[in-house]
Amino acid sequence: MTSASPQPPPVDGALLRDVAGSYASGVTVVTGLDGDGPVGMTVQAFHSLSLSPPMILLCAGRHSRTWARLMRSEHLCVNVLSAEQQDLAWRFGKPGPDKFREVRWQPDPVTGTPVLDGVLAWLAVRITTVVDGGDHHVILARVVGLEARPGTPLVFFKGDMHALAS
Ligand SMILES: Cc1cc2nc3c(=O)[nH]c(=O)nc-3n(C[C@H](O)[C@H](O)[C@H](O)COP(=O)(O)O)c2cc1C
Repeated sequence: MTSASPQPPPVDGALLRDVAGSYASGVTVVTGLDGDGPVGMTVQAFHSLSLSPPMILLCAGRHSRTWARLMRSEHLCVNVLSAEQQDLAWRFGKPGPDKFREVRWQPDPVTGTPVLDGVLAWLAVRITTVVDGGDHHVILARVVGLEARPGTPLVFFKGDMHALAS
């Protein structure tokens, strides 16, 4: 005779947010070109995935209008923000009509996607797979260009930005 395993109790969303926020991460701004010009959004859910082939992953909200525009870009650029770029993280982290206004950037030499001035590192990528992840998409992408620069990272922890303590 088999007995049904007990249902786990429902997970409280605020607690999950708090617990997940205990995992400190860097902050990126993912940019692209959708035909109307440069477009970008702050993404904390970024991780390296594979060295061979070179791949990364990102998570983007299913209902994000910016993500819908980024999907139209042939390539994306993951801009890893430096400790001095907190203002950019907030600017690109909320809806807004013209997030690029007065933001300086250069086209990356491989794909032409926007590399924001002053970033700690950047990766130009081509999306290979989009997987359903609940209320987010999980995006797998192949790295086609990249650069790391001297500096220190912006850190996101418990809902706020920090610089690394030395
Ligand atoms: C620090 C920070 C981290 C964020 N990380 C993510 C993320 O990993 N994935 C995501 O979809 N949105 C993330 N967001 C929210 C998006 O940047 C935001 O939804 C988007 O810029 C607003 O445009 P939208 O209205 O098109 O969604 C983050 C925002 C902030 C401030």
